[in-house]
Amino acid sequence: MIGGGQNPEHDVSLASAAAVAEALRVRGYDVSTVTISQEGVWEVAGVSEGATAAESLALAMPLIAAADVVFPAVHGALGEDGVLAALCALAGVRVVGSGPRAGAIGMDKWATKLVAAAAGLRTARGRVVNAADCGDAVFDGPVVVKPVSAGSSYGVSLVREEAELGAAMRAAARFDRRILVEEVMQGREIDVAVIREGGGVRWAAPPLEIHTTGLFDTATKYGGSARFTVPARLWAAETTSLARAALSMFDALGCAGVARMDFFLTAEGPVLNEVNTMPGMTAASQVPRMFAAADVSYVDLVTRLVRAAEV
Ligand code: DAL
Ligand code: MG
Repeated sequence: MIGGGQNPEHDVSLASAAAVAEALRVRGYDVSTVTISQEGVWEVAGVSEGATAAESLALAMPLIAAADVVFPAVHGALGEDGVLAALCALAGVRVVGSGPRAGAIGMDKWATKLVAAAAGLRTARGRVVNAADCGDAVFDGPVVVKPVSAGSSYGVSLVREEAELGAAMRAAARFDRRILVEEVMQGREIDVAVIREGGGVRWAAPPLEIHTTGLFDTATKYGGSARFTVPARLWAAETTSLARAALSMFDALGCAGVARMDFFLTAEGPVLNEVNTMPGMTAASQVPRMFAAADVSYVDLVTRLVRAAEV
C-alpha cells in the first residue's frame, strides 16, 4: 500500500491509503504500508530514517519488488499521473489501477478534453494559457480558471467579473504552468465510476449527484458541506447516456482498476468535466458510495481491485 505523496492532496491520499489498507486487512491480506512524505521520502518503518528521497526510494524498492500487488493511493502529481504505475511496470510488479498512459492523460485536463472530443464526448469550451502570459488574459465573460494538472480542485476559481481574473490566474499558476480557462457549465454535477475487473469486464456503478450551493471546490469537498445523492435521481435515458459516455472515456484512455468520470448533466446531455484515475477511496468518498449502491461493499470493492491488478 502506498499513500501520501508530494502534492497538496497528500492528506487525502493518506486517508485513502489508510482506509484501503484497513479493508484489505479485514479480508485477510498481509498489507505493508509505505508513505511518501511531502518531501518525497519513502517512509518505511525501521528502514528509511534519515534517508534522502533518492536513498529512501532505493531502500523501499525491495519491498515494492517483493509485493504480490502494489496498491497506490496517491492522488495528484507524482502518483495518479502514472509515475507509480510506471515504477511498478519497470519492476514487473502487479499494480492496482490504470497504467502510466491513462494516468498521465487523465491527470492532464487539456489532453483529456482532446481525447474526449475524439471519442465523441462533449466538454466545456476552453483554452490553455501559459502562466508566463497570464497577465495578458482578457476577460470575455464568466469562466472557470484551473491548473491543467492538479486535483481536489486546488487552484480552481470561478471568475464572474474582470477584477477577479488576475488573482484566479495566479492561484492556478501556483499548481501548473499551464492554465485552463473554461466556459462555465450550467448543469447538475454527476459522477460515474467505472471498474474494470479481472477478465476485462467493465461496468459503471449507479451515478452520484453532488449538491453544492457554489463551486464544488476544495473547501466544499473536504469541509463536509457537499451533499450526495446515490443513486442520482435520473431518467433511465440519462443514466444510460452517462454510463455510455463514462465507459467510452474509460476505454479511450485505456483505464484499468477504477476511475471516476465527473460530468455536468446539461440540457443537451452529459458534458465531461474531468477524469480521476486514482479517485478518493475513503469509505465516505464518491466511488465507494456508488459501488455500495450496486451492492458492492467497500471491502469487496478493494478486493476486486486487487484481484484485477495487472503487471
Ligand atoms: N482527487 C480527489 C482525491 C478525488 O478525485 O476524489
Ligand atoms: Mg480530479
